[in-house]
Amino acid sequence: MNTFDAIINRRAIKKFDPNHKMTTDEIKFLMELAILSPSSYNQQNWRFITISEQKIKEEISKAARNQAQPSDGSLVIILCGNTSAWMDNPKRYWKNYPKEKQEYVANALKRKYSDNSQNKRDEAMRSCGFAAQTIMLAAKQMGLDSCPMSGFEYDELAKIIHLPNDHLIVMMIVVGKALEPPGQRGGQLPIEEIVFENRFS
Ligand SMILES: Cc1cc2nc3c(=O)[nH]c(=O)nc-3n(C[C@H](O)[C@H](O)[C@H](O)COP(=O)(O)O)c2cc1C
Repeated sequence: MNTFDAIINRRAIKKFDPNHKMTTDEIKFLMELAILSPSSYNQQNWRFITISEQKIKEEISKAARNQAQPSDGSLVIILCGNTSAWMDNPKRYWKNYPKEKQEYVANALKRKYSDNSQNKRDEAMRSCGFAAQTIMLAAKQMGLDSCPMSGFEYDELAKIIHLPNDHLIVMMIVVGKALEPPGQRGGQLPIEEIVFENRFS
């Protein structure tokens, strides 16, 4: 499957085959692809919780206002942002580069994120957004389907996954085999309403 086909065929699936299981190797490969997503200063501030245990998936469905996808899907991935990533030994984000580069990045991260909770939150959202699309397109290439989800009770889900205080949940993605094809698309807005050349007006 080429990239265009993956983009066109990825859809938010509502009914997953509850009997389909992913292998440990498939889950590992999917996560190895996810961590190749871009992040500002390569800070890799995403943290992924992968859940394939049925009992926990069912708890997550309950927290997701009884939506069936977490329980029926093969794998639930909770995408979290680590808002302390900027100060968590940041030189290792450029470990393949000389010391000067590592120090430059560590200082830049400090300038941007210390004392600025909005920046920390925004960066968590941006990084996890990129990772989410990587996961969904990679799943498609692996012959799997997905559903991105934010319809859940935040505090309940945080409790299930033991969310640390300095992390936030950005969204979850369910991966599995579709049991039913998706309905037709809701309808894309006309491109003229969305794309502007050079400036808004
Ligand atoms: C951030 C986000 C949250 C979403 N939450 C849910 C959800 O809780 N339940 C659900 O069934 N679909 C959810 N969706 C799927 C959207 O409804 C779906 O992506 C949209 O209707 C476009 O359809 P498509 O993905 O099939 O193109 C979510 C999508 C995004 C991006």
